[in-house]
Amino acid sequence: MHSHSSFSSNGFQLAMITNCFLSLILATAAAARTFTVKNSCSYTVWPAIFTDLNVGSAIPNQPTGWEAPPGSSVSFSVPDNWQSGRIWGRTKCNFSANPGPNSCATGGCNGGLLCDPHTGTGVPPATVAEFTLSGSGNQDNYDVSLVDGFNIPVEITNNVGCGVPSCRADLNPNCPAQLRRTDAGGKVIGCLSACAANLDGNPADSPNCCTGSHNLAATCPASGVAEYAYFKGGCRDSYVYAYDEGSGTALWFCDANKKANFVVTFCP
Ligand SMILES: *[C@@H]1O[C@H](CO)[C@@H](O)[C@H](O)[C@H]1NC(C)=O
Repeated sequence: MHSHSSFSSNGFQLAMITNCFLSLILATAAAARTFTVKNSCSYTVWPAIFTDLNVGSAIPNQPTGWEAPPGSSVSFSVPDNWQSGRIWGRTKCNFSANPGPNSCATGGCNGGLLCDPHTGTGVPPATVAEFTLSGSGNQDNYDVSLVDGFNIPVEITNNVGCGVPSCRADLNPNCPAQLRRTDAGGKVIGCLSACAANLDGNPADSPNCCTGSHNLAATCPASGVAEYAYFKGGCRDSYVYAYDEGSGTALWFCDANKKANFVVTFCP
């Protein structure tokens, strides 16, 4: 009796294990990529995810916002065709009163802890990791964007030997005065881009934002973007303004057939 029930139990366990194994294979085939968001900062960061649903409907299998204590990391699956996705870190958040864009010192979004799926892009300044998977030419393209400015250092690594965009430097302390965001104590907590700061006062026709008569790569050179050298000099491998591809170190590509998994690290 005893050995019979023991045999049945083992048979049941084997069936369970086989089932789990099969569903794991199926889940992996459907999900395709694993993303990890890691907080290596000495302070809490509230990561946020936004997908431009005008471009594609695939979204990561992860809430659009969460709390990441120092040293923590979270992994989740991301569809192979994620388009126009952004991941950034928010600082000094408190969602208890009026959850929304002002709930964080930097990077806050409509919605509060969970960024609104339609309008929850981060408030500048924020360093943003941007992704389009399986894009044109069957390439993943990705970058660390300073187009909205900088709040915390970010790096994007991968497991297939593709390029590593980053802004590892802390661009806050020496941020040009007219671009600074400070906290109540006067400490610099973020550094706006010239575009986000509306430095030229004409957002509809701006050499900093590449709009109006400056809306082409040819009419919006880096030389016309105020403080370009400050951001690009400190963070060469980041995407500093709307047409920064010309620098050769802004936008990064990886053959989508390699099915890269990506790690976004705050304070690498
Ligand atoms: C968060 O905000 C609430 C309401 O303003 C306040 O009572 C609370 O002390 C704050 N929490 C922290 C940790 O600052």
